[in-house]
Amino acid sequence: MSERTSENRDQLAAHAGQQVNPRRLPYPNAYPNGWYGVCLSSDLPPGRVVRRRLAGEDIVVYRTRSGLLRVVRPYCPHLGAHLGYGGAVDHENLVCPFHHFAYDSTGACVRTGYGTPPPPNLKLTLVESCEADGIILVWYDVKGNPSNWKVHDTVPSHLQPRTCRTYTLRDHPQEVFENIADRGHFGPIHKTILNSFSFEAPDTETWFKASWDARPAARTNLGIWSATNFRVEVEGQGLGFASARVVIPKLGTHLRAWAVQVPIDPTHLELRIGLRVERIFGQIAPRLLSRLIDRAFLVLQCKDVARDFPVWRNKIHQPRPRLVKGDGPIMEYRRWVRKFYYGELETPHAVTDNGDRARTPVKNPSDMT
Ligand code: FES
Ligand SMILES: [Fe+2]
Repeated sequence: MSERTSENRDQLAAHAGQQVNPRRLPYPNAYPNGWYGVCLSSDLPPGRVVRRRLAGEDIVVYRTRSGLLRVVRPYCPHLGAHLGYGGAVDHENLVCPFHHFAYDSTGACVRTGYGTPPPPNLKLTLVESCEADGIILVWYDVKGNPSNWKVHDTVPSHLQPRTCRTYTLRDHPQEVFENIADRGHFGPIHKTILNSFSFEAPDTETWFKASWDARPAARTNLGIWSATNFRVEVEGQGLGFASARVVIPKLGTHLRAWAVQVPIDPTHLELRIGLRVERIFGQIAPRLLSRLIDRAFLVLQCKDVARDFPVWRNKIHQPRPRLVKGDGPIMEYRRWVRKFYYGELETPHAVTDNGDRARTPVKNPSDMT
């Protein structure tokens, strides 16, 4: 089950009445195109209906009794009731709470609440959705175009996350994943000493990969993770989904971790951190203990991710950063993200040490209009 945190409540409280600093939003739009993780598959058993925010609007996510995942726009086309407040699954249909009109899995109205024939062409609007690694993802495109790429599984079903923590943060999805390319922050923020670091983000692909070998700096507060060297391999797919494999060789411990996010309004996103322990001390954890062990490691993982929050909460986006030797491949990452927007971005500029622009803007190759 997802778990909301006090950080989340703090952020929501801070959001109420706050002024948005326009310098924080130099992106062409607040919502890059792509797949966004909105909940775990295990949060949505057959028959359940949940509400989520995506790009400033509600969506309704439900699963039919046979297990079909569906995501729809929230308002009933009959008289406008919100299907996320009292809508219910009846076999393969979603039933509106107001007059009990029923909509099948194609969105078509198949029944009214009065036993009268359903009005012709009365339909819910379906939103594209999929599941990967046991996470429910929803497609967003600022122009309403259908998806042109898919998120693929990175683990077999027995290693999918069963628990996650959800944070509401004042940030932009591009900025959160830039953290992975930001080699320079691992020492100061995560108290980690990198022995190696590699990053690959082809302009032609919707994925990026990063890996590093590292050891904790002295006196870190990461419990068992402080013990020894570890290796992390991350694969991001778009700006809504990243999965990681963490190996701690001396402890015989292999973990899988996820960071999935969804922009909920122009300045806030929900970040979900999931974790699954694959092996611990060389063993597959006994079934009865495995959930407890997952939760224990999730606490440690979230503690580490949360070290970034005070910086994210208060920083601005520097479209022309002053990069120096020792920084990570920030501009490579920023060139890669262009495919998730239409139009031109300012971000492919960096300022070199002599003050020159490192690169001029380039038309987004994915702009199809
Ligand atoms: S508003 Fe949904 S059935 Fe009437
Ligand atoms: Fe970080």
